[in-house]
Amino acid sequence: MGRLQDLFALLWADYSAINTQVTPIHDVLERRGETLINDHVAFRTFAYPGLDIASMAAPFVALGYKVAGKYDFPEKKLDAAHFEHPEDGWPKVFISQLRLRELSLGAQSILQGLINQIPSGFTARWDWCAGGRPWVPDFASYEALERESDYAAWMAAFGFRANHFTVLVNALKTFPDLQSLNLFLKAEGFPLNAAGGEIKGSPDIFLEQSSTLAGEADVAFRDGMHRIPGCYYEFARRFPMPDGKVFQGFNSKSADKIFESTHRRSG
Ligand code: NI
Repeated sequence: MGRLQDLFALLWADYSAINTQVTPIHDVLERRGETLINDHVAFRTFAYPGLDIASMAAPFVALGYKVAGKYDFPEKKLDAAHFEHPEDGWPKVFISQLRLRELSLGAQSILQGLINQIPSGFTARWDWCAGGRPWVPDFASYEALERESDYAAWMAAFGFRANHFTVLVNALKTFPDLQSLNLFLKAEGFPLNAAGGEIKGSPDIFLEQSSTLAGEADVAFRDGMHRIPGCYYEFARRFPMPDGKVFQGFNSKSADKIFESTHRRSG
């Protein structure tokens, strides 16, 4: 399982470099004596041959992961699937894909232009899900995409990498619930995504989630550097189902709002 460990280490190094909130959040929680467990790592991609969920999941599946849930986000024009590893200790992998054909022709043509820039051999790398952005967008295209799909704009700017890691709140010893963790994070100066309420979900769907607002990152565009929202950090509390087993899936209604954590704060 060394390869799996290496892949998650690579994804984490890249993610924590882009999201400058991650290391400070880790530090303040560890200073309280917490050990952080990852609930899931989330990826974004396109419904496009060779780039779709199945293609991106391939290295995880080759290393033992199995599909454990499928989801539809009609408003965001996304399909998603989550994968679990049969051995304890590995995070779930959540991959969503943007249904390009449901976008305007203008957005489709911008995204096709980016996909056309992918160097041959890029997706032949076993770890291309951590390969970063294999194209250079211009800022006007980013802004055009942003007006239509925040998800598409994020993909154009950041490409293939972890969109977020997620702290499993159940494994924290000094926070009885997600509310108390949220209060602590805000007091420490980390703004949370309040779209749809800070806590998405509820015990009756067996899942509560919150997330930081994506920190700003300096990103290179064809016409220079621009400061835009990067990645966010997520927090998940899971509840037991009537059969006593802790729910391991996701809920499309609450995840819909979590996707908005990469919106620009100005609106
Ligand atoms: Ni998530």
